[in-house]
Amino acid sequence: MKGVILAGGLGSRLFPLTKVTNKHLLPVYDKPMIYYPLETLVQAGIKDIMVITGGTSSGDFMRLLENGKDFGLEHLTYAYQEGEKGIAHALALAEHFAAGGKVVVMLGDNIIEKDIRSQIDTFSKQEKGARILLKEVDNPQRFGVAEIRNNKIIRIIEKPASPPSKLAVIGIYMYDNQVFDFIKTLKPSARGELEITDVNNRYIEKGEMSFGILDGWWTDAGTFESLLRANILVAKQRSMR
Ligand code: G1P
Repeated sequence: MKGVILAGGLGSRLFPLTKVTNKHLLPVYDKPMIYYPLETLVQAGIKDIMVITGGTSSGDFMRLLENGKDFGLEHLTYAYQEGEKGIAHALALAEHFAAGGKVVVMLGDNIIEKDIRSQIDTFSKQEKGARILLKEVDNPQRFGVAEIRNNKIIRIIEKPASPPSKLAVIGIYMYDNQVFDFIKTLKPSARGELEITDVNNRYIEKGEMSFGILDGWWTDAGTFESLLRANILVAKQRSMR
């Protein structure tokens, strides 16, 4: 399976840290943020990855990651997103790269503790559709939140004022090739973006969405609070080794 890392956006919640650079190049403890999703995918056995960036710092990703060999990649490809039109809009740029196959997509600011190989293996055996990963959080209002009934996801609500559960949709998504057709039918949300939650809800409506609960800790790093949390979690993990 191929991997896609989404590393565009303005990083506006981290301004002025992101005034002259891209969020995913900021440090998380001892490494640039983008290293974490890259290493997670490589650890899960993914050797062919596309990094999608945008804005004025996009060239820095190539200087930093080069051809990906040092990370154990066989192929590293880059794409450039024009404008900041959302996660689903960025993912559309990977259609040619996916070449009709399945993809695992990871948001560039998501950092996790453990290996996700078994989740990816489960999805490779899934005949069609998508698979997402959920994690219980204390502040679900800040994320996409899953509503579960009879052990099935019945819908995902993006940043709900009254969350139907504490299960956040984390930024690791596994899709079959239908994802690119679904994205073409999306309309921008209130925040002017093509939302990945709308894509996931299409799969749910078709009855083709499975889910797993992530093992180990997870954080994103797109706000001051979560960026600090990411630094602390990684630092603690390093000191335990
Ligand atoms: C995005 C998704 C949200 C998901 C989160 C995970 O939110 O829209 O559903 O829970 O990533 O990091 P954003 O960071 O764009 O606010």
